Amino acid sequence: MRIFVAGATGAIGRQLVPLLVEQGHQVTGTSRSGHGVALVNSLGAEGVLADALDAERLHEAVGAAAPDVIVHQLTALGELDFAAHGRVRREGTRNLVDAARAAGVTRMLAQSIAWAYEAGGEPADETTPLDVDAPAPRSGTIGSVRALEEAVTELDDHVILRYGLLYGPGTWYSADEQVARQLRAGELTADAAVSSFVHVEDAALAALAALDWPAGAVNVVDDEPAAARDWLPALAEALGEPAPPVATDDTRAGWQRGATNALARNKLGWTPRYPTWRTGFTSLS
Ligand SMILES: NC(=O)c1ccc[n+]([C@@H]2O[C@H](COP(=O)([O-])OP(=O)(O)OC[C@H]3O[C@@H](n4cnc5c(N)ncnc54)[C@H](OP(=O)(O)O)[C@@H]3O)[C@@H](O)[C@H]2O)c1
Repeated sequence: MRIFVAGATGAIGRQLVPLLVEQGHQVTGTSRSGHGVALVNSLGAEGVLADALDAERLHEAVGAAAPDVIVHQLTALGELDFAAHGRVRREGTRNLVDAARAAGVTRMLAQSIAWAYEAGGEPADETTPLDVDAPAPRSGTIGSVRALEEAVTELDDHVILRYGLLYGPGTWYSADEQVARQLRAGELTADAAVSSFVHVEDAALAALAALDWPAGAVNVVDDEPAAARDWLPALAEALGEPAPPVATDDTRAGWQRGATNALARNKLGWTPRYPTWRTGFTSLS
């Protein structure tokens, strides 16, 4: 197939492109920089310069690639600039869906998140509504996630990959990166907030598998949603950082509930290489 990867140089894109190439697909991948384009070329794909916020250029790039499928792995979290990230989700996705339509592309896979669900006592499944009544600042995240998902859903043939927290190479959850620095600075507490993780390699493998999945949203998370008081000390140990303080109460926001991968695992046949962060974190050291 001809596949257009928007965001080919990101934490997931860099892992996904070689997998697609290995499978014999003809891959075009975007970056906003010459350096990024060279990286995409080195991965065996054709790198093209495109900024998702430049609708005209994006239309040209998608039109020239004439893909069978677009894989949307655009985020803008490298600089921890959440406003830019929101803009890429809203405007970038809008532009990409419009470019897809203009080029006659009907299938798109898109990166979303598995922690945008409303409050509840159990890990959320894909039928759980998004947390649309969340107060600020969470409302900003939910609004941009909703805009992204609604835009992608305009294409009948869409798969929304709701990823858990990414860990592994190129993510915040790896040696000397964001979370390691926060642990070192004593900024994190091991509390009752529940999260779901996914190794970045498994995130890329899920995108590869999703080329054949039916339309809809799918949680791409490991088997074990867990409270920070369980996973954060394990992460600190794996990264060689100081153990965090542990909260003694059960306080968590209602939405901090994790997500279940039952759909991906039991119905779609996705089997993560790292089924739990317990063993996955040990790969970080
Ligand atoms: N689910 C999660 O937990 C999750 C998901 C995503 C990211 N993250 C975290 O965020 C951090 C940064 O992620 P990342 O390394 O993937 O980098 P990133 O800075 O978020 O960029 C991701 C991709 O989007 C592209 N991009 C960004 N803005 C763009 C725009 N306006 N137009 C076109 N392309 C654009 C980038 O391409 P160029 O920069 O080459 O143009 C890159 O290919 C990582 O540490 C990761 O852990 C977490």
